[in-house]
Amino acid sequence: MKADKHNTPPQTLSFLHLLPYKNGENGLITLLKTPISTTSTLHSQHFSLSLSLSLYMANLATLFTVLLSLLCYSQTGFGLVQWPGGTSTRFYDFKVQTMRVTKLCNTKEIVTINGMFPGPVVYAQEDDRVIVKVTNETPYNTTIHWHGIRQRLSCWSDGPSYITQCPIQAGQTFTYEFTIVKQKGTLLWHAHVSWLRGTVYGAIVVYPKTGVPYPFKYPYEEHIILLGEYWLKDLVQLERQVLASGGGPPPANAFTINGHPGPNYNCSKNDVYKIDVVPGKTYLLRVINAGLNMENFFAIAHHKLTIVEVDAEYTKPFTTDRVMLGPGQTINVLVTTDQPIGKYSMAMGAYMSAKGVKFQNISAIAYFQYLGAVPNSIALPAQLPSFNDNLAVKTVMDGLRSLNPVNVSKEIDTNLFYTIGLNVQKCRSKTPKNNCQATNNGVLAASMNNISFIRPNISLLEAYYKKINGYYTEDFPDVPLKFYDFVNGAPNNIPNDTQALNGTRTKVLEYGTRVQVILQDTGTVSTENHPIHLHGFSFYVVGYGTGNYDPQTANFNLVDPPYMNTIGVPVGGWAAIRFVADNPGVWFMHCHLEIHLSWGLSMVFIVKNGHGELETLPHPPADLPLC
Ligand code: C2O
Repeated sequence: MKADKHNTPPQTLSFLHLLPYKNGENGLITLLKTPISTTSTLHSQHFSLSLSLSLYMANLATLFTVLLSLLCYSQTGFGLVQWPGGTSTRFYDFKVQTMRVTKLCNTKEIVTINGMFPGPVVYAQEDDRVIVKVTNETPYNTTIHWHGIRQRLSCWSDGPSYITQCPIQAGQTFTYEFTIVKQKGTLLWHAHVSWLRGTVYGAIVVYPKTGVPYPFKYPYEEHIILLGEYWLKDLVQLERQVLASGGGPPPANAFTINGHPGPNYNCSKNDVYKIDVVPGKTYLLRVINAGLNMENFFAIAHHKLTIVEVDAEYTKPFTTDRVMLGPGQTINVLVTTDQPIGKYSMAMGAYMSAKGVKFQNISAIAYFQYLGAVPNSIALPAQLPSFNDNLAVKTVMDGLRSLNPVNVSKEIDTNLFYTIGLNVQKCRSKTPKNNCQATNNGVLAASMNNISFIRPNISLLEAYYKKINGYYTEDFPDVPLKFYDFVNGAPNNIPNDTQALNGTRTKVLEYGTRVQVILQDTGTVSTENHPIHLHGFSFYVVGYGTGNYDPQTANFNLVDPPYMNTIGVPVGGWAAIRFVADNPGVWFMHCHLEIHLSWGLSMVFIVKNGHGELETLPHPPADLPLC
C-alpha cells in the first residue's frame, strides 16, 4: 500500500493511512470501518476503490441502501443537469450523534458524525459529484458546511445556518449535493450552527483527476493532521453563557491533534496521536486548523516543512520551520524523514496577536516516530515561535505564491473597503455584573464596517430566492460610515466611540462583477489577526501590509498571488482580495474565530443570476429544512 509511481491514481495508495481514526477511551488509535461508498461510471480504478471501500462497510445491507439511494438520486437528478456531472458520485451517510468521550480525566457527551471524533474523511476526485445525507439524531440543531468547496450553482448545499438554510432539526434529514469543480487538495467540513463545530469536523481530501500527478515529488504516504480545540463544557451552553456574560470566552481546556491533546496535558500521557514513519522518505501532511477560537502554529522537531498547497490550491514550494493556520485554513506540507532515527514531537501552539486575551498556552503534542526508535523514549521537543511572533506569521505569508501565474482581474468593477474588529457596546442589562463584563462595564461585539451582523431567524437565501421581505436590507456600506485612524484610533477606554450599529445588511453584486475588498483591521478594542473566510469563492490575496491601508504605498502582486478561501488579515494591518462574482447565491463572509462570528463579525454578499442556465441558481432541493 505504498505510493511509488507517479502514474498510479493516488486514492488507491496508502489508503489505510488515510482512513478515519478514532480514539479509544485510552487514547489508542483504531482504524474504523468507514461508512462510505463510491460508485463509478467510467474508470476501473474507481471500481477497485469502491470494492476496497465496501470491504470496510458495516454490512451488505448498508451497501444495498446506498445503491438504492443512488438510484433514486440519479432519477430525480437534482442539479445534475446544470453542471457537468462528476466523473464519479461519492455517497456519504452522516449521522449526527452524541457520543461519550473521556479526555483530560473527564467524561462528557460530544456531538459527532457517526460516533467518530474527528469525523469521517470525505474523499473525492476533482470533478466528482458528492452527495452527503445528513441525519440529525441529536437534540441540537445542525448544519454542515463544506469549507472551501466553491459550490458552483449549489448555494443551497453550502450549509451556514440561517444564511443558506434553516438548521436540520432533531430527527430530520437533509442531503447535501455538490460537484467539485476545478479544485483539488485539502479542505474541511464542519458544523455551521452555534459552536457545534468544536467537535463536529473532519477533513475533505480531493485528489486530482485520474492520471493527473501532483506537481511535487510523489509522497511515500499521506497523513491528515486536524488541529482542534477541546472544551470540557458543553459547547452550545458555553456559547450561550459567553454571550450572556458580555465578556470574552474562556480558553479551550486543550488543543488537540487529530482529537488527542498529548502528554503536556493532565491525564493525557497516552492520549497522543502518532505517525509511524520510515527513514529516507517524503511524507505529505494535510494540516487543517479545525479549532474554534484560536490561530495556531504547527511545527515538527528537527524537520523542515515544505508548503506545496494552501486552501486546496497549489503553491510554489516554500520551505519553513513552522506554519501558522487560522481556523478554516489548510496547508499541505512535504516532510522528509532525513533525521537520525528517533521520536520527534509534532506541536500545535497558540498564535495570539490580540492584547489582554487569556488563551491556552500549553501545546498539543503528537509523535512523528521513526521505524526503529525506542518507543518509550522521550520525544524531541519541537520549537514553536512565541505566541505573539507576528514576524513568523508574515514570513510564511510572504512565502505563499500560486504555483503558476494566475488570471487575476486587473480591472475592478466594485471597490470595497471593509473594516474588521471588535466593539464594546453600551450595557443595556439590568444586571450589569452578570451581563456586561467587558471593559468599562460594556458588552463585547464585533463588526465589519462597524455594523454588527444580526443573524436572521430564517434562511437569507430562501428569503432572497422567494422574495420574502423584511429579513434583511441591501445597504451594507462599501466603505466605513466614519473614517478615522482605524489601527491606532478609538482606544477601548472610550466606550462611546466604539459602538457598532446592528443589522442584517447585505451587499448585492451583479453577476460577473470583478470585486476587490480591502479588509482593514481596527484597534477599536485590540488589533488582532482575523482569519476572514468567504463562502462560495476563493479569492486572490493580491496584497497585505501593516498599518492603515494606503493605496499610494500598497504593494500588489498580480502575478502569482495565492488563491485562498480564508485570509489571516495581519494584526493591525490590511489585506486586499479579489474575486469575480460569478457564482449566484447568498454568500457569507466572516471571521472564522467562532466567538467573533457569534459577536457579529460578518456580512453577506448576494450574487445575482446572470444569463442562461449556467449562470442561474437552480431551485431549492425538496428536502430543504424549514425553520
Ligand atoms: Cu468554515 Cu462560514 O465557515
